[in-house]
Amino acid sequence: MHERIVILDFGAQYAQLIARRIREAGVFSEVYPCTIAPEKLEALQPMGLILSGGPSSVYDEGAPQLDPAVLEMRRFDGNPMPILGICYGLQAMAYTLGGGVERAGRREFGRAHLDVDDDTDLLTGIPSGAQVWMSHGDHLTRLPDDYSIIAHTDNAPIAAVRAASRPHYGVQFHPEVVHTDYGREILENFAHRICGCRGDWTPASFIEEKKREIQATVGDEHVILGLSGGVDSSVAAVLLHEALGDRLTCIFVNNGLLRKDEWEEVQATFRDHFHIRLHAIDATALFLERLAGVADPEQKRKIIGNTFIEVFEHATEEITELLGHTPRFLAQGTLYPDVIESVSFKGPSATIKTHHNVGGLPDEHRFTILEPFRELFKDEVRKIGSLLEVPPAIIGRHPFPGPGLAVRYLGPVERAGLDMLREADAIFIDALKNYGLYDQVWQAFAVLLPVQTVGVMGDERTYENVCALRAVTSVDGMTADWARLPYDFLGHVSNRIVNEIRGINRVAYDISSKPPATIEWE
Ligand code: XMP
Repeated sequence: MHERIVILDFGAQYAQLIARRIREAGVFSEVYPCTIAPEKLEALQPMGLILSGGPSSVYDEGAPQLDPAVLEMRRFDGNPMPILGICYGLQAMAYTLGGGVERAGRREFGRAHLDVDDDTDLLTGIPSGAQVWMSHGDHLTRLPDDYSIIAHTDNAPIAAVRAASRPHYGVQFHPEVVHTDYGREILENFAHRICGCRGDWTPASFIEEKKREIQATVGDEHVILGLSGGVDSSVAAVLLHEALGDRLTCIFVNNGLLRKDEWEEVQATFRDHFHIRLHAIDATALFLERLAGVADPEQKRKIIGNTFIEVFEHATEEITELLGHTPRFLAQGTLYPDVIESVSFKGPSATIKTHHNVGGLPDEHRFTILEPFRELFKDEVRKIGSLLEVPPAIIGRHPFPGPGLAVRYLGPVERAGLDMLREADAIFIDALKNYGLYDQVWQAFAVLLPVQTVGVMGDERTYENVCALRAVTSVDGMTADWARLPYDFLGHVSNRIVNEIRGINRVAYDISSKPPATIEWE
């Protein structure tokens, strides 16, 4: 088992970010709700604990409490448990030990500069004057016995503290955010110097361990995986295939709503290149038949979701026949942020919703679920994908919604319009790649508006469709801004679309941000 540092979540917006930073320091880290029972926490055998920030005041009714037993905890190796409290985590620690916490007259939010008073451990290598990011209402006014100040700022006489008799530390600022200049070093100091972790958790070690774990779990049984061609399911397919070979079958469904060439490319990559058993089903006709005449976006999503389950079920039966026995495992590319949403302590981190990004799957109870990436963040999956030699085009691909082009085609979809949309989208995406802009945007695509506008081509008047281009920058898809693509570039794409695609005579660029607009048009 790898050494790990456990983050106790007090409702922080940034709890996951702390875990990421610790992992970047080569130490495995996971977030648990602050309400976790001390026995359960001990069973995780952490090398150290971090108490996250949170939106509450220790005086609020129902404020998340720090179990005093946590402060007395010893590590599995008998040493006292190293603890770092961040913001609310520090206040909760101090409050529990009889220190003074007061409501500030006004919330301190933003930059401050740290004056380091003692750089012997937590703050080793952190120069005085380093910028730190503050975001708190309450602050510490009196230290518990045994604590001393190791850094202050102009506004906060107590910015970082240490206990004398045990390895307990606290910071009033947020070392996990990028606005804190030496935040990474502070967390590394905690992980390496204070907790004594070696830092041996790497994507490469993850792959080897996961493969062994998958082999042990699956034994001689068979696994199926719904492959979409997106990053998570693709990397999962390659990892599972390395572990299981032909005891993995991937199911890939053409719902008629894929991008240009996607149907062929996914098969070429996974079947021909990786030699993965691929059960590819072209269900275009069925999907389009059911979608005929349907204009309401949510209705479209429902139909697509239900039809997908049906097709997937059918594919599973076919695989069962081919194998002569039922696959026992169903693998999914679930990521850590999806998992954590359901376990997090109720606070902002719990209320930020994940999108409808989880495709419906067949009656899951028939299967044992395998989620090899349950502990991982997306960028970690990308790193693992690179190590497994998943083509960069897949790893760097923009997110694509489950209902595919159906939500980029306003109104009822039909074949000819879908082909038009596919062509326009391909021109836009190819051009983004050729101009080196593809990786600078979070997501880009064409939308087909089935409204006709007047145009002129040669001597003729035309009356044809409008195509909208959408490109956004974003960190997580929750909020987004329209991408400031160069005019010349947009002009080039517009020319190509209008000249090369019959049926489109006008191109518009979407300049709305999210909120209030969404990324997709439906
Ligand atoms: P919106 O349009 O809500 O999209 O700003 C945010 C992110 O979610 C994707 N999206 C979907 N993904 N099924 C999915 O799997 C859907 O129904 C769906 N709708 C939107 C969208 O592409 C963006 O990345």
